[in-house]
Amino acid sequence: MPRRIIIDTDPGQDDAVAILLALASPELEVLGVTAVAGNVPLDLTARNARIVCELAKRPDIKVFAGCDRPLRHKLVTAEHVHGKTGLDGPQLPDPTMPLQPGHAIDFIIDTLREEPAGSVTLCPLGPLTNIATAFQRAPDIVERVQQVVLMGGAYFQVGNITPAAEFNIYVDPEAADIVMKSGCDIVFHPLDVTHKALTTAPRVQAFRDMGSEAGTMVAAWTDFFERFDKEKYGSPGAPLHDPCVIAYLLKPELFSGRRVNVEIELRSELTRGMTVADWWGVTDRAPNALFLGDVDAEGFFALLVDRIARL
Ligand code: BDR
Ligand code: CA
Repeated sequence: MPRRIIIDTDPGQDDAVAILLALASPELEVLGVTAVAGNVPLDLTARNARIVCELAKRPDIKVFAGCDRPLRHKLVTAEHVHGKTGLDGPQLPDPTMPLQPGHAIDFIIDTLREEPAGSVTLCPLGPLTNIATAFQRAPDIVERVQQVVLMGGAYFQVGNITPAAEFNIYVDPEAADIVMKSGCDIVFHPLDVTHKALTTAPRVQAFRDMGSEAGTMVAAWTDFFERFDKEKYGSPGAPLHDPCVIAYLLKPELFSGRRVNVEIELRSELTRGMTVADWWGVTDRAPNALFLGDVDAEGFFALLVDRIARL
């Protein structure tokens, strides 16, 4: 039986590749895609999520709009990385599939209540506003979650939006804190991992060589957002963050990390949104997450190429 997941996302080119990877993988059943404000405002992330489902020829996927701003702070966006639409790069048609009526929060709550306990995994690829709001509104769903496998945070790589914080956690640290304190089984894909999954020229070429619409699009998206990260990091490619989450569900053996305590900094102006991971076990704080640190990048891209080629 396929693993059942809800993808909570703010597409974003890398989110888009993650959604394609999930929809191309028979081991996974995508129960729904919930959009959140993050890389760009909510109207655009909800639009982009539908564009990606249509690209995967899955207009049947339920896409819901969720929270349009973080719990406490003003929304911070990342057009400087992803472009004005969030999916800048290739020209894309407007989606024709509808947005589902109802709010993403209600979808998350209802799904977790209706499905057997422990059978639904949440895959947050953006700020954790939707997930935290659902947990606050319906605390009974928390123990029904199979696992939360998320992209966010950083320890050795420290920050990408501030010197101390990774974007997804920085945008809504209060939401991240609620999720961390929920008691759920949590797997973090921090920058420490995703900065090892680089879109080098030969890897991007492999997508282009597919000659398919999906392959061409993945190559064009990565071409677009690479420009920013290559210049910033002086690296041969850009980190392909969010697909790591889906790849972990398919092949966890590609990744390694440690079960550690992770706390979210909420108060300091300077380091707000920092994920303080006790990697070296220097405190007696109880481990509350699997914090990944490494990925077999060749294996990860081989998996991506294999799956995107099926679309
Ligand atoms: C995360 O921030 C977003 O810009 C990406 O989509 C990814 O989820 C990386 O810090
Ligand atoms: Ca994202």
